[in-house]
Amino acid sequence: MAIATMITPLLISFFPFLLLIPAICFTICHANSNVLCIQSEREALLKFKNHLIDPSNRLSSWVEGGDCCKWIGVDCHNSTGHVHQLHLAAPLSPYERSKLRGKINHSLLELKHLSSLDLSYNNFSSIQIPKFLGMLGTLTHLNLSQAQFQGEIPHNLGNLSKLQYLDLRGGIMPGWDTKVTSLQWVSGLSSLQYLDLSYVDLRKANDWVQVTFKLPSLLDLHLSYCGLEDDPSPISVNSTKSLVVLDLSQNRFSSVPKSIFSLHGLVSIHLSGNSLEGPIPDYFGNTLFLEVLDLSWNHLNSSIPNSLYSLNRLQFLSLSSNQ
Ligand SMILES: *[C@@H]1O[C@H](CO)[C@@H](O)[C@H](O)[C@H]1NC(C)=O
Ligand SMILES: *[C@@H]1O[C@H](CO)[C@@H](O)[C@H](O)[C@H]1NC(C)=O
Ligand SMILES: *[C@@H]1O[C@H](CO)[C@@H](O)[C@H](O)[C@H]1NC(C)=O
Ligand SMILES: *[C@@H]1O[C@H](CO)[C@@H](O)[C@H](O)[C@H]1NC(C)=O
Ligand SMILES: *[C@@H]1O[C@H](CO)[C@@H](O)[C@H](O)[C@H]1NC(C)=O
Ligand SMILES: *[C@@H]1O[C@H](CO)[C@@H](O)[C@H](O)[C@H]1NC(C)=O
Ligand SMILES: *[C@@H]1O[C@H](CO)[C@@H](O)[C@H](O)[C@H]1NC(C)=O
Repeated sequence: MAIATMITPLLISFFPFLLLIPAICFTICHANSNVLCIQSEREALLKFKNHLIDPSNRLSSWVEGGDCCKWIGVDCHNSTGHVHQLHLAAPLSPYERSKLRGKINHSLLELKHLSSLDLSYNNFSSIQIPKFLGMLGTLTHLNLSQAQFQGEIPHNLGNLSKLQYLDLRGGIMPGWDTKVTSLQWVSGLSSLQYLDLSYVDLRKANDWVQVTFKLPSLLDLHLSYCGLEDDPSPISVNSTKSLVVLDLSQNRFSSVPKSIFSLHGLVSIHLSGNSLEGPIPDYFGNTLFLEVLDLSWNHLNSSIPNSLYSLNRLQFLSLSSNQ
């Protein structure tokens, strides 16, 4: 009795606020329905998770019935609710446990709006890069850096015509025999702006110049530690005007590849750690926009050519550890 008489006036005085609750709920619930994940995509993600090995349980938020847009590593489009990014890079940690392993299920193909897939720093040493990744046609970013895949890079990746960033830096475990014999597939990547194939053995990929120097949108090209050697038959290419950064450090060139002097837009050239010998070529005078030139750790000798003094944008020049 006593409690009821106390509560009744309380209820009456809060009555106007109680009326507001449906309005508040409508606003919040409606906003939520915008990001609630799409059922078929949730199922696809769960299937993908089922085939992964996740020793440290990084994907513990990925559970049946949940809002997959709130799961760790999952990013949904804010109005359509479609999954558009998967950020599953392993944390930089010395513990092998924090890395995802196992298989990559083709259920990912259900994510029809996926624009970014990041599996970097995990340990997929038991499988090759799946061919079906080439069917994720909406991808603009693919990061498999240091993910330790086996064997070859499937040519199917060349079907990703919207891809802008491809990072395969150290993505393939080095093996006894070199598997990459051609980069022809890369020519299909007509939107590519950034390509990193460093640490991938390209000793047999003799077409690397013809393919990469022609990519129409390429800005950054990183081919360091690829085992590249002098091209015995220098072929003239109609080079892209777009390339700004070229990293060919830590390869086996004994002379500067002439083809790079057709890349007139270059701002940054890295050739350290090769076997360049003789004088510094005069041709660097043609790269008028050059700001960074790293020729350290080679066997260059004689004097600095006058053409280098005409590069009036040059800010960084390293000739250390030469002769
Ligand atoms: C949704 O995304 C668009 C473009 O990505 C952005 O301009 C907009 O501000 C976002 N809206 C909200 C509510 O986050
Ligand atoms: C993908 O998942 C399906 C169904 O769960 C299974 O049959 C298939 O073997 C899986 N493939 C891989 C490569 O894990
Ligand atoms: C990756 O996993 C394999 C076993 O699947 C293991 O032998 C290897 O040492 C791991 N790699 C690294 C760098 O930890
Ligand atoms: C790929 O991932 C690595 C590590 O997570 C990161 O350092 C790198 O910048 C990424 N590459 C691109 C092109 O975003
Ligand atoms: C994808 O690439 C592979 C190998 O380059 C090719 O055989 C296949 O026809 C391509 N598929 C599509 C849908 O373009
Ligand atoms: C470069 O392009 C021009 C005009 O488009 C063409 O005539 C020439 O054959 C091309 N050269 C090479 C080496 O592809
Ligand atoms: C520079 O190196 C080249 C090739 O190693 C050699 O033939 C030449 O004599 C050297 N020149 C000087 C000035 O040391």
